[in-house]
This record gives sequence, C-alpha cells and structure tokens, in this order.
Amino acid sequence: MSKDIEKEKQLAAKEAVKFINDYRVVGLGTGSTADYAIREIGDMVKNGLNIQAVPTSNKTKLLAQSFNIPLVDINTVDSIDITIDGADAFTEDLILIKGGGGALLKEKVVASIAKEVIIIVDSSKKASLAGKFKVPVEVIPFASRYVLNQIHLINGIGNIRLSGDQPFITEHCNFIVDVDFGRIDDLDFLSYKLNSIEGIVAHGLFIKLASKVIMGENDSTVAFKVK
Ligand code: 5RP
Repeated sequence: MSKDIEKEKQLAAKEAVKFINDYRVVGLGTGSTADYAIREIGDMVKNGLNIQAVPTSNKTKLLAQSFNIPLVDINTVDSIDITIDGADAFTEDLILIKGGGGALLKEKVVASIAKEVIIIVDSSKKASLAGKFKVPVEVIPFASRYVLNQIHLINGIGNIRLSGDQPFITEHCNFIVDVDFGRIDDLDFLSYKLNSIEGIVAHGLFIKLASKVIMGENDSTVAFKVK
C-alpha cells in the first residue's frame, strides 16, 4: 500500500492540537506539517479557543494572521506553555534534526522556552540513531569560511545552502550550512562540538527538547514519549 504522506501529516497535526487548552501561550512551528496544525488551531480559535501564539517564522506569522490567531511578542512572555512543530528526522530517543526550512533558530529558541514540545511528523521522518544525517547549521556570513574549516576538522563536509545560485539567507540575515557528517554515533558530543564553534548561531540537532513526537502512520498516529 502506498503511503499518503500528506494525510499522515494531517493526522499527526489533528492529534497534537488536542493538547492545547484555553489561556495558553502556544508556539507555532514552521513547515508543511506545522502548517496543518496552524490550520486546525485557526478553526479552534474561530470556535472560541482563547490563546496567544508565538510564530517561529515570518511565513508562519502570515499564515496564523490569515486565520486570526492572536499573536504575542515572545519578549513579553516568560514561558511558552506548548509548541507544536515539525522535524526533518527523529529518533525513538526523541532526538530531532530540524532546519530543512531554514527556521531552526527561532524554532530552537521557542522549543527551549516551551514547557511542552510536541513534534508532528509523517512516517518517512523516523530515523535510527546512527543514521546518516545532514545537519543544518545557521552561520553568520562573516564567519562562514572559518566555520566550514572548523566543521571539516570534526569530519563534516559543509555546503552553504543555495537559493538559485545565491546563498539562502535566513530571517536573521545568516547562511545555512548543511553538513554531512556521514554516520553519526554520538549526537550529544557532536552538538557540544558545534556549539563550541564561534560563528555558529544555532544547529539543527534538537536534543532533550522534544516532549513527544506524534507520527502519522497510514490511517492512525503513533506517539513516542520521553522514556
Ligand atoms: C523548518 C523545520 C521543519 O519543521 C522541517 O523542515 C519539517 O518540515 P516539513 O513539515 O515541511 O517536512 O525544521 O526549519
């Protein structure tokens, strides 16, 4: 049976929004799966749900505004109750790779502030811990050559992400470097190493941030929780 990936994303989104209650501050993720959740939240707001939302990108902000979801400036709140976001890959240990859409910096800030981080994915996103990943890294342009050299020293091959024939520029005016580390055995150590390189603003390894991953699989959903 061929998989209907869009349906799986939608099912995961519908399941995740059940965790949103009234009077909450809600983080809104970025990407096609998060968009399904935003649409659901839009319907809930239309039906009386009273929340304030923090978008993780300009694209998400525009979508939320189109559904009249009330937005709040992140710097006016001390915490976010729940955030719902997608991922490019996840493991059963709830380690995520994010940044395919280039919004990882705000996504990581929101996930760090949020009390509950629900990740919604289709079944193609399930990966094994020692799998092969490309890790997106947000880099200030001034440091890009230095960062590429430092990444090389830790056995990564980095390429500046392009949009057409020009570097892709993030909302924070930075580059994204997609790094191929081949087989990664120790993601914690890799995260530590990347955090130690000056010029890297954020990287797409999200470790110990997700509370739950809800994966759509065929006609239902499966939840993976912190063990
Ligand atoms: C954006 C992200 C997205 O959550 C990730 O790329 C998944 O996107 P999609 O739901 O479209 O597959 O990290 O920075």
